[in-house]
Order: sequence, then C-alpha cells, then structure tokens
Amino acid sequence: MLAVAALAQAPEAPKPKPIGTMSQLMVDVIFPTSNALFYVRDGPANEKEWMELQFNAFVLGETANLLMAPERARDNGQWMKDAKLLQDLGIEAYRAAKKKDVKPIQAMNDALYEACQSCHEHYRPGYRRRP
Ligand code: HEC
Repeated sequence: MLAVAALAQAPEAPKPKPIGTMSQLMVDVIFPTSNALFYVRDGPANEKEWMELQFNAFVLGETANLLMAPERARDNGQWMKDAKLLQDLGIEAYRAAKKKDVKPIQAMNDALYEACQSCHEHYRPGYRRRP
C-alpha cells in the first residue's frame, strides 16, 4: 500500500524524448534501411549480408514505432494508419530475413513504396504524388 501511495505522488516519470528531427529520422534511418529492402535484388550472397538485411528490416520496423510514439505522431488517425503500413512491412521483412527467404521482400516493393507515399501525401509539406 505504501508503495502504491508513493507511486501516486512520485514526480512525473521519464518519458521518451525525440533526439532527432522528423527529417533526420527519414534521411538517416528510414531512407537507408528501406533502400536495403527496395534494392534487395537476388538477395544476400553470404551470412554477413543476411545479417545486414535482417538488421535493416528490424530497424525499419522499429522506426515505425518511433513514428507512432506520442512525441512524434501527428494525430491518432491517419498518421497511425500510415505508420502501421510501414510497421507491418518491417515486421514481415524482418521475419523473412531471419528465415533467409528473399521472396517476400522482393514482393513487397510496391507496398513499401506505397507506405512511404501515403504518409508523405498526407503529411509531408509540399509533397505531390507522382503519376
Ligand atoms: C507516418 C508517416 C511517414 C512515413 C510512413 C514515411 N515518412 Fe518520410 N516523411 C514524413 C514527414 C512528415 C516528412 C517531412 C519531414 C520534415 O521535413 O519535417 C518526411 C520526409 C521524408 C524525406 C525528406 C526529408 C528531408 O528533410 O529531405 C525522405 C527522404 C523520406 N521522408 C523518406 C521516407 C521513406 C523512404 C519512407 C518509406 C520507407 C518514408 N519516408 C515513410 C513522414 C513519413
């Protein structure tokens, strides 16, 4: 009981705090990690390349969580839907890379492109969908 009371009175708990801007997250993390999936071609040639692919898929998927975190999410509707597209693909790619199965990653090219486009269309200033 004492512990509960103490908790209730505790000062505000630490919260996640964005370190980089949205633009940095895109350019430094999402762009390179998604490129690893976009340009997977015939797939990794050796163990080291598989590990890299796995890592890139993992980071891309987790970065979707960063986009969805309250500190970064722009709203609780469309933004979350757009981020989830990226998250789902990140998870799928990560699972495939762990199984050393390149096919699902090759097959997700259009969907991945769409995930980027959808959010950019809704939230990236001045962005226009290319025909
Ligand atoms: C949930 C929303 C969301 C998703 C999903 C998303 N982006 Fe972005 N992206 C943004 C926003 C918002 C900006 C504008 C950031 C700014 O300028 O402040 C942006 C900007 C960018 C930029 C330009 C950054 C700059 O400053 O030049 C690049 C490159 C980019 N995104 C790549 C990607 C790629 C590649 C994907 C998909 C793999 C992706 N983004 C998915 C929201 C998203």
